[in-house]
Amino acid sequence: MKAAIMGFGTIGSGVYTVLTTNEDIIAKRVGEKIELKYILDLREFPGEPWEKLVVNDYKTIAEDPEVDIVVETMGGVEPAYTFVKAMLEAGKHVTTSNKALVADKGADLIKTARENNVNFLFEASVGGGIPIIRPILECLTGDVIEEISGIVNGTTNYIMTKMTMDGSDFADVLKEAQDLGYAEKDPTADIEGHDAQRKIAILTSLICGQQVEYTDIPTEGISQITADDIKYANAVNRRIKLLATSTATGNTYIARVAPYLLDPKHPLYSVDDVFNAIFVHGNMLGDGMFYGSGAGSLPTASAVVGDIVEMARHKDENIPLEWKEEKLELADPSGVECRFFVRVKSSKDDVKKAFGDVEFVEGIVEGEIGFMTNVMSEADYDSKASSLDVVKMIRVK
Ligand code: HSE
Repeated sequence: MKAAIMGFGTIGSGVYTVLTTNEDIIAKRVGEKIELKYILDLREFPGEPWEKLVVNDYKTIAEDPEVDIVVETMGGVEPAYTFVKAMLEAGKHVTTSNKALVADKGADLIKTARENNVNFLFEASVGGGIPIIRPILECLTGDVIEEISGIVNGTTNYIMTKMTMDGSDFADVLKEAQDLGYAEKDPTADIEGHDAQRKIAILTSLICGQQVEYTDIPTEGISQITADDIKYANAVNRRIKLLATSTATGNTYIARVAPYLLDPKHPLYSVDDVFNAIFVHGNMLGDGMFYGSGAGSLPTASAVVGDIVEMARHKDENIPLEWKEEKLELADPSGVECRFFVRVKSSKDDVKKAFGDVEFVEGIVEGEIGFMTNVMSEADYDSKASSLDVVKMIRVK
């Protein structure tokens, strides 16, 4: 079978490495060799072993009947969408690592794949190398997934881990993460939670079988988390992690991306550094957790190549995958009940008047106190907190 890679950056070149390093075992598992015929990129790569494979026009791939499988590792919605759609319409299977494309156009591309009796797979788009999408779609297909919550962004998990371990400030750790190549030069998508927002939209779409718009998911990043917040977290024996979470309620889900305080007993508490983990609660399974390398060239390429093998094994059939284009209306997140950790510049009496008897944390920052509320809805919290001078609120999981 012949394959092509569109976009030869970090992930695309990783796919080349996996296909060449594990060539024999992949051929054995597929039953025939997967030969890389084209690499689509704007660059030419003179002197590199893959130089002769490079083409600059996606139509060269779309119009070549020999190509069976196409890998999209370009990133972004356009032109990736145009290219992927053309490949599917030309009867080629496509796998992508591109969460922006999947979150925005997943339902459309799945439909196009079905209409053309090919497959559109995207295991690498969430959790990098961690198998999560196929387990949800196949292994857990007999369950109603009641909750899916994850640490799905390696950059922010690295930053939160370093801030927790070293007591450092956000800006210093971000700079260090950039120097180490963990964080992008423009880190906005990671630190403001936009990357995690797309990933939880994809996971929620998969567990409910219809389109969840990422823009409907309330999202806060970690850029406002300070060394003082970490001191308060330590004082209440918890850790702050950026979570992307989705919980079933009635016929829909409540989703949110935000920093949460985690109890040591929570399975995501000890997921540190650049690692990702996705916690799943099924109505029959109970709890499950998927843990591993959530980003990086080879882990992500490993998942892409897993899709290549899956598509090669189903080269003449479309694997049924339910993700309808009809949009799911998410439930109002202000109805979610949890505890809240609050830092205020108000008196203990005022806090007690608003929230009743609570335990206070004092002596961390001069002129303020911290406290943890009982379990209540967010709407209830907002109304009670409106009488106080709130410095910071962090939800507790
Ligand atoms: N920027 C992402 C992360 C890459 O840090 O997890 C993987 O999607």
